Amino acid sequence: MISYITTKMEITKGSLLEKYGRFDDHWHPRIIAELNGQSVKIAKIRGEFVWHSHENEDEFFYVVKGEMKIELRDGVIALREGDYAVIPRGVEHRPVSKGETYILMFEPSQTINTGSQEGDFTKTDLQHL
Ligand code: NI
Repeated sequence: MISYITTKMEITKGSLLEKYGRFDDHWHPRIIAELNGQSVKIAKIRGEFVWHSHENEDEFFYVVKGEMKIELRDGVIALREGDYAVIPRGVEHRPVSKGETYILMFEPSQTINTGSQEGDFTKTDLQHL
């Protein structure tokens, strides 16, 4: 995280593409900024994630590069590069991507990537980039 100190405040500024260049693994979010009790997270994804839901948190997804789908129990949301969606709390969802896709998420800092479905995909203690 790059912080610029002005005379009165610390400013977080960075390059998304530079941040994506610093890791290669999939389904492992990193935190690039925090504000108002929420985190801005980035991840590279490929393949199928696990079905899960977040009891108390809405989840914002933005596709920076590539494309993805967010499967729902009664439908599917297709997101192309530049598209975004908000998955409401309590709604079961499963992100999937055929190729490698770069995504950005915005959600409360305590949100666990796999929600209530703890397992192999669960990541905690996320790294700050
Ligand atoms: Ni989720």
